[in-house]
Parts: sequence; structure tokens; C-alpha cells
Amino acid sequence: MVDVPEEERMTASPESRPNLLPGVAENWRPPRYVRLSSRWQKVRATFLRFLDLQSGTIWRDLARLLPGERGQILDVGCGMQPYRSLIGREASYVGIDVSGAEKDFGFQSPDTTYYAGDRWPVDSGSVDCVLCVETLEHVKDSRGFVAEISRALRPGGRVILTVPFCARWHFIPHDYWRFTPSGFAALFADSGLTDLKVWARGNQLTVACYKVMALVFSLLSKGKRRLLRALLGILSLPVFFLALVLANLSLRVPGTVDCIGYTVLARKEPFDRPVSLY
Ligand SMILES: C[S@@+](CC[C@H](N)C(=O)[O-])C[C@H]1O[C@@H](n2cnc3c(N)ncnc32)[C@H](O)[C@@H]1O
Repeated sequence: MVDVPEEERMTASPESRPNLLPGVAENWRPPRYVRLSSRWQKVRATFLRFLDLQSGTIWRDLARLLPGERGQILDVGCGMQPYRSLIGREASYVGIDVSGAEKDFGFQSPDTTYYAGDRWPVDSGSVDCVLCVETLEHVKDSRGFVAEISRALRPGGRVILTVPFCARWHFIPHDYWRFTPSGFAALFADSGLTDLKVWARGNQLTVACYKVMALVFSLLSKGKRRLLRALLGILSLPVFFLALVLANLSLRVPGTVDCIGYTVLARKEPFDRPVSLY
């Protein structure tokens, strides 16, 4: 990210609102989840998932979906491979990520294959399940990425994908899109992927609580007028914990037009035909 001085940003626009391009400083980044091996890592991750509604709801969905998958699972944009432990014994795991993962996202894990460019380092039709967690919003060419999912999957293979919906602009500037259910229908059309299902994670109440929590959190993170913000943040802690409990309770009610993120499922058509995406 290019750090544009505050003054310059204020004058870059005819109005007094700052121009947000080429980027803004991030005071806070999403928590770093690691592959769970030690007991301490498991306890820490469970606690973080309770606080972090995005990864908590993703974990819930993947804990239902992943253990049933067989064959080869390809985790694309795998980061630190935080969901690998959910994979059952009948499946094998391969994690791939882009070569900029460490520089742009701070992720580096030893048994990940890093690649450059848009073509994945996998043979066509060789994968039983593509897993793609909170990655699609960071990919500039969404259509090309969906074409790669389709190319990698064997006929009948499944894709399990998650994206945020009500989330901050994060990993700036590498956060490009938010998707809706109809957006997914358009994106997957003619891709060779069918039987599309889009599930909301959370609902309007979850979103309201999530935003209240994010506000309190931002008061407690570094930035201007740190003392005043910290004081306000500490005074708001009871509100934070109330929102946290409410948000977790709200997950019992399925969302419709608002949610914190989507979990998307689709299958590769059980017959081979050329993919016509362009
Ligand atoms: C928010 S992280 C998610 C990491 C991991 N899936 C998780 O849930 O913790 C986004 C990931 O997308 C990867 N990524 C960014 N652009 C990509 C691209 N064009 N193709 C594949 N992965 C990409 C990043 O390197 C990073 O690991």
C-alpha cells in the first residue's frame, strides 16, 4: 500500500472527504489462524473463533462439510491451512497459494505449493474437492478463478467456497470484491459447475452485533487520539461482550438478505465438456 499523507488525501477530492485510493493504513488485521497441532493452539483457536464471527461461522459450516469429503482435497489460497484438521482420514490434502502470500498477506506455511500467475499447479480433472476459504474476494479475475476450479475438478467433484459479505476492507489494497447470491449465479453460469447452493452465515442481528464489536475493537487499536479512544473503548467493553453473546445466539436463525458471509457449494457437471467462460 502506498502511504499517502493525510493532507494530500484531503485535498485530492473536491469535497472534504478523503480519497481512499491508493489505499489507507490498516490499524487492525484479521487474527492469524494456524494449523492446529498442539493443545494450546486448539484452545487459542477455539477462543478466537468465539470472538471472530467470520471464522467461527466458517468453522461451523466446514465442520459439517469437510469430514464427509473423500479423495483429494485442494485448498486454494490456503494461507496457514487453518481448516486442514477438519479433513477426514479417507481424504488427502494439498494446499496451494500465490507467491505473494507472504508479502501481501503475511502467510507462509512449509507444505504449501506456491505458484505465480493465474493457472493452478494441478492437472485438469484431478481433484475431488476444491476448498477455497475467504480468498475469492482477493482475486482480481473472479471468472478466470472459477474456470480454474472447474478445470481442476473431476466430473462430479465438489467446490466448497466461502466469502465475507459484511466485512471491512481488509488486507488493503488486495481486497477487491463482495459477492451476493445472484452474483454467484452469474459468476458460475456456463462454468461447468452446477447444483449451486448459497448459504448465509449469520443474519441481520449478527451483522449489527458484528459491526458494534468492530467499532469497539477499532477504538482499542492504534490510531490518532489513542488515549481518548482507549478510554471510550474500555467504557464500551460491556457493550462489546453483550454484542458478542447476542451474535453467537443469533446464529440459530438463518439469514436472508443480510449476513456476515456466504458459504457456497457447487458440483462439476458429471460429463466433460469445454468450459466457455470468456
Ligand atoms: C484472507 S486469506 C485466507 C487464507 C486461508 N484460506 C484462511 O482461511 O485462513 C486470503 C488468501 O488468498 C490468497 N490469494 C490471494 N490472491 C490469490 C489468487 N489470485 N489465487 C489464489 N489465492 C490467492 C492469499 O495469498 C491468502 O492466503
